[in-house]
Amino acid sequence: MKLSIRLILFLVAGIAIVALIVSKIEVRSENRRLRADLVRRAEILSESLQEIVEPALENGSRDQLRHIVERFGNREQLAGVVVYNERGEVLAESSDLQSRFDPPPVPLDRVTSSDTGLSEFLNLGSKPMHVYYMPLHDRRAVAGVLAIFHDAEYIEAQSARMWRATLWHVIAEVLLIVLITVLIIRWTIVLPISRTAQWMKDIRRGRVMSSPPGLKESFLAPFTSEVVNLTRSLADARSAAEEEARLRESGESVWTAERLRVSIQGKAHQGSLFVVSNREPYMHVHKGKVIETLVPASGLVTALEPILRACDGIWIASGSGDADRETVDEQDHIRVPPDKPEYTLRRVWLSKEVEHGYYYGFSNEGLWALCHIAHTRPIFRASDWQSYQTANREFANAVLQEMDGVDRPLVLVQDYHFALLPRMIKEARPDARVAIFWHIPWPNSEAFGICPWQRELVSGLLGADLIGFQIQAHCDNFLETVDAALESRIEWERFAVERSGHTAFVRPFPISVDFRESQRGLDSQVSPYVLRSELLKKLGIKANFLGVGVDRVDYTKGLLERLCGVERFLEKWPAHRGKFTFVQIGAPSRTEIQRYHDFLQELEAEAARINARWQTADWKPIVLLTRHHSHEEILPYYRAADLCMVTSLHDGMNLVAKEFVAAREDEEGALILSQFTGAARELRDAIIVNPYDVEQLAEAIRLALEMDTAERQARMRLLRNNVKHHNVYAWAGNLIAELSEIRIEEAQPEPGHSR
Ligand code: G6P
Repeated sequence: MKLSIRLILFLVAGIAIVALIVSKIEVRSENRRLRADLVRRAEILSESLQEIVEPALENGSRDQLRHIVERFGNREQLAGVVVYNERGEVLAESSDLQSRFDPPPVPLDRVTSSDTGLSEFLNLGSKPMHVYYMPLHDRRAVAGVLAIFHDAEYIEAQSARMWRATLWHVIAEVLLIVLITVLIIRWTIVLPISRTAQWMKDIRRGRVMSSPPGLKESFLAPFTSEVVNLTRSLADARSAAEEEARLRESGESVWTAERLRVSIQGKAHQGSLFVVSNREPYMHVHKGKVIETLVPASGLVTALEPILRACDGIWIASGSGDADRETVDEQDHIRVPPDKPEYTLRRVWLSKEVEHGYYYGFSNEGLWALCHIAHTRPIFRASDWQSYQTANREFANAVLQEMDGVDRPLVLVQDYHFALLPRMIKEARPDARVAIFWHIPWPNSEAFGICPWQRELVSGLLGADLIGFQIQAHCDNFLETVDAALESRIEWERFAVERSGHTAFVRPFPISVDFRESQRGLDSQVSPYVLRSELLKKLGIKANFLGVGVDRVDYTKGLLERLCGVERFLEKWPAHRGKFTFVQIGAPSRTEIQRYHDFLQELEAEAARINARWQTADWKPIVLLTRHHSHEEILPYYRAADLCMVTSLHDGMNLVAKEFVAAREDEEGALILSQFTGAARELRDAIIVNPYDVEQLAEAIRLALEMDTAERQARMRLLRNNVKHHNVYAWAGNLIAELSEIRIEEAQPEPGHSR
């Protein structure tokens, strides 16, 4: 309070001083203007009088002179006119003047010597006056002086008036500025800060609010982000401690970030863990003049970050942001997360050509289509294969460089982009423990066998100590592929492959989500009905029931089948027309690939076709939102939906199914889940469907909407229990535990020697 009063006083003094200085300058210049104007008028008048007075002076006619001065002496602001002779004696004087004061002595010398008009401001009888002396001539020379007296009082009066006006002006200005300043301070600083303080207090007292209030002003941004980070860290630490205590008390063995951290610290020493993935966890992009940090949409960051943070590891990934190069040091390192650096991101730079062949070509037109049985023909080009090998080699070099000098490192390689990497690493560093996790399905051996380079891929993978898949069926398919492609010893009892004296273990590790994190970011008190009406209002439609789907726009996700299912449902049960709307959030993905580009268009056309059948002014069956949505944007849809549809034609796991379940704290909502997802093996209480069967899809939607509440809630409770126990920390913890327990062979035989 004291501070703000002092601030206001400073402000008042500052504004007043500035306003007074400015006014003084203005008054002075107005004064100068008025004086100059008066001088000019006197000059003109004296010149015209000179012409009349001079002949009268020459005649010596005092009467004529008196007559002239009387005639001119009563003009506006003119106090009077006096004619002096060459000795300075008064010859004639206007009567007005005579009654007020005696004419002052004329500065004869100055007028005579300059022989031009002379202007002077003086006080006569306490009155401010202006006198203009004009020399008068006869034939010989200066014969007298004409003096014109003007009242200059009005100039002073005008200055005084201006000062008075200025004073009022300054007072009004000061009051207004102070008022505005007080309001601005109150709205932009005091209120947001007190709301933030309240927010922090609520969090301290355990009342969790979704997002911090106010403080949107950019000048407060650094302060805001620190406050938010600090408060969140404290809240996280407290809730982690509470959760740990609760779990200990109830004897539950749920994995948490904290448990994972402790577990990792016992298995990997400081700086000994290396993660490799194609997508980086933080991406830097130019936005106008500033560089922004983006977290690409991927469940992987959630899963892997706690592992890296626990032992200050290194994450090696492809630099893909347009400001990525500017943000790394000379070793291509950057410490992350940006607001609390705890591990290192090492960026690898691939040339455009290699990236194209490796990422778009071999990985996504080849392996992605090969491993997902979704009836899109895989494309294998020799040039893409070359790029794939080059990219794997470049990543291997980066990993080896980072591992240099590190004793018994642990390496976790992610996904189908790096099938060759495990062998490349192990050949150079047999002491490293290497695991690769294959996030997508592994098809049966006949299907995989169409890849011209299946032997090289399988051999590259077998270089790992541990090969992880999402489900047991993918492990089985992999071992059968190994059997068909290579000479090796497969131990079905141990699920291991022995080749060239090296053993690779094959295990399922179903990936998951952070159960607790997936529900954060929305006030759990807000009812789904309120959320739903807000969302629908934003979309500009009215509906009673809401379905949601969230996917990358990818031909494996069964999106066209899903829309047909919605169409069939509305055909069969017309009572739902005008009442049920399905919102599909579709993030465009890999659009440089023709198939993906075309698929996005097909999807849009299909949604438009179905909408055209029944849509009304304020309702439509399908809302297709084709842009990337953040988790915070998706969460309200999960919370508000009556049902969520996951209809992948083939999917390694599908984390949307698990995210939806984790988001439903209210134990409401139904999950329709394709039988061809990895998730369907765990989430048995979902409504399991075959996405190729449109009748079944329609029936599933009806069942989801009409199921009785008790059953819906019972199913959701069981689903949630499953995701809670098989969360992403369990995935990471089990993977690391398995890897660290593998016995590393003392000596490696020559590579390439097979039995
Ligand atoms: C799948 C893959 C991931 C990949 C993600 C996004 O989930 O298993 O490795 O990162 O899709 O695809 P993108 O090509 O955009 O990285």
